[in-house]
Amino acid sequence: MENRMRGKSRALVHFCVLVQIMCCVYYATNMIRHRPGFAVQHSGISDSEIYPNRKYEGEYIRYETKKYGQDFCVAYNVTRATGNFRDDGLEPISLVIHATSHFMREIEGQCSSRNWNGPISVSLFVDRTSSEAVEYLHEVHRCSSKVNQKLSLHVVYRMSPFQKTCDPISIKRSNRKCNSFNATIRSRERGRVIPPFQIYPINVMRNVARKGALSDIHMAADVEMVFSEGFAVKMKPIANQYINGKDKKLLVIRAFEFHHKYFPAGHTIESLWQWFRMSKNQTEAYAWQIGYKSSSWEAQLIMHRKDPYNPEYIPTRIRDQQSLVYELCRANYTFHLASHVFNVHRGVKTKETNLSSAVLTHQKRLRTRSYKRFMHYINSTYPDTFDQCGRFVM
Ligand SMILES: *[C@@H]1O[C@H](CO)[C@@H](O)[C@H](O)[C@H]1NC(C)=O
Ligand SMILES: *[C@@H]1O[C@H](CO)[C@@H](O)[C@H](O)[C@H]1NC(C)=O
Ligand SMILES: *[C@@H]1O[C@H](CO)[C@@H](O)[C@H](O)[C@H]1NC(C)=O
Ligand SMILES: *[C@@H]1O[C@H](CO)[C@@H](O)[C@H](O)[C@H]1NC(C)=O
Ligand SMILES: *[C@@H]1O[C@H](CO)[C@@H](O)[C@H](O)[C@H]1NC(C)=O
Ligand SMILES: *[C@@H]1O[C@H](CO)[C@@H](O)[C@H](O)[C@H]1NC(C)=O
Repeated sequence: MENRMRGKSRALVHFCVLVQIMCCVYYATNMIRHRPGFAVQHSGISDSEIYPNRKYEGEYIRYETKKYGQDFCVAYNVTRATGNFRDDGLEPISLVIHATSHFMREIEGQCSSRNWNGPISVSLFVDRTSSEAVEYLHEVHRCSSKVNQKLSLHVVYRMSPFQKTCDPISIKRSNRKCNSFNATIRSRERGRVIPPFQIYPINVMRNVARKGALSDIHMAADVEMVFSEGFAVKMKPIANQYINGKDKKLLVIRAFEFHHKYFPAGHTIESLWQWFRMSKNQTEAYAWQIGYKSSSWEAQLIMHRKDPYNPEYIPTRIRDQQSLVYELCRANYTFHLASHVFNVHRGVKTKETNLSSAVLTHQKRLRTRSYKRFMHYINSTYPDTFDQCGRFVM
């Protein structure tokens, strides 16, 4: 009798151990499957499907580029975000930013931040001296799991005079061990890259980053923006509700900027206190409609892939962002201020540097020409909305 009981309990113990082992195996395989950067290699999709423009040639990786407009060449998806971000069935919001090699560290920072838990699409402008930035970011993407999950990188360069076709971009293959690519080494390698010294084609860069984004919902921002806690996740449900490619609705994000002081009309939306009150008495993010302000309004928007893009002939630093906001108003879009989330501009823009005023002086010469072109396009495309948006001053 006792023996039989002992036999039973032994069998029970064996059964329990077996169940535990099976659980462990199940979780371990799941963990492996969910590890960023490794999912793709196991899922049966071939490399050439993910990177159709990429080829391995000996020591080098070569990316085909495509001509973009009159003057530029673009290689899309030089790195591709491997994260899914669609587990909840919602379309993720892509953070859409643009930069030169000067901001490599900020790009890494955006990808590492927990506040942006979603895909990040970056257009990078390079020239001869700064092209090593591509190699660097490619390496960070290979070695850092957060960057690997989030970063899709698109490289833009300006064609030379008389150059007719776009040449490929090639970078050296690396086989270093990722644990030796630590903060010290990264900082040293970033420091070696000399940033480009050219007029930065800001609206081309904004558009390339949107076109290369992995999702249909785009939050266009400055690379130095710092987002409030849980931004991408908090905004996801409401963004899916408003930004659907049909209803012509836009979400406006509150920005607290240090250059508020210097440029108040550009960033003031509703009174700050009103926004805080509205955000406090609700738990879910929501939005309420606000009017278009004026042609100096530099609204930060969440938009759809199908919504208008920035006019690329508008000179850099002369209402380059505001022109899109104006067009959206003329196209009869409505603006909705989102509660709960905000961002802060990190860079304190106090003084014009000699370089930035030189850019402005150069670009001002294009002002009249591009203004005429823009207004002609706007008036003929959207003839009936002048009264609701007012005149565009540039
Ligand atoms: C870039 O990759 C995404 C997927 O990550 C793909 O949907 C998109 O078509 C690619 N873009 C281009 C221009 O190849
Ligand atoms: C980074 O790696 C280098 C070379 O592998 C090593 O000499 C250095 O001590 C490391 N630095 C840190 C902070 O770990
Ligand atoms: C939140 O509070 C503000 C001011 O107290 C009020 O105007 C607003 O209607 C409230 N919002 C909601 C959705 O209850
Ligand atoms: C703009 O949208 C409103 C509805 O939001 C509509 O009543 C109006 O006719 C539209 N105007 C134009 C010019 O399409
Ligand atoms: C800008 O140039 C002027 C001379 O034209 C010089 O005096 C000034 O120090 C320069 N400013 C900066 C910030 O380099
Ligand atoms: C655009 O249309 C508005 C109103 O119809 C008019 O006042 C303005 O002069 C036009 N601008 C141009 C450049 O045609």
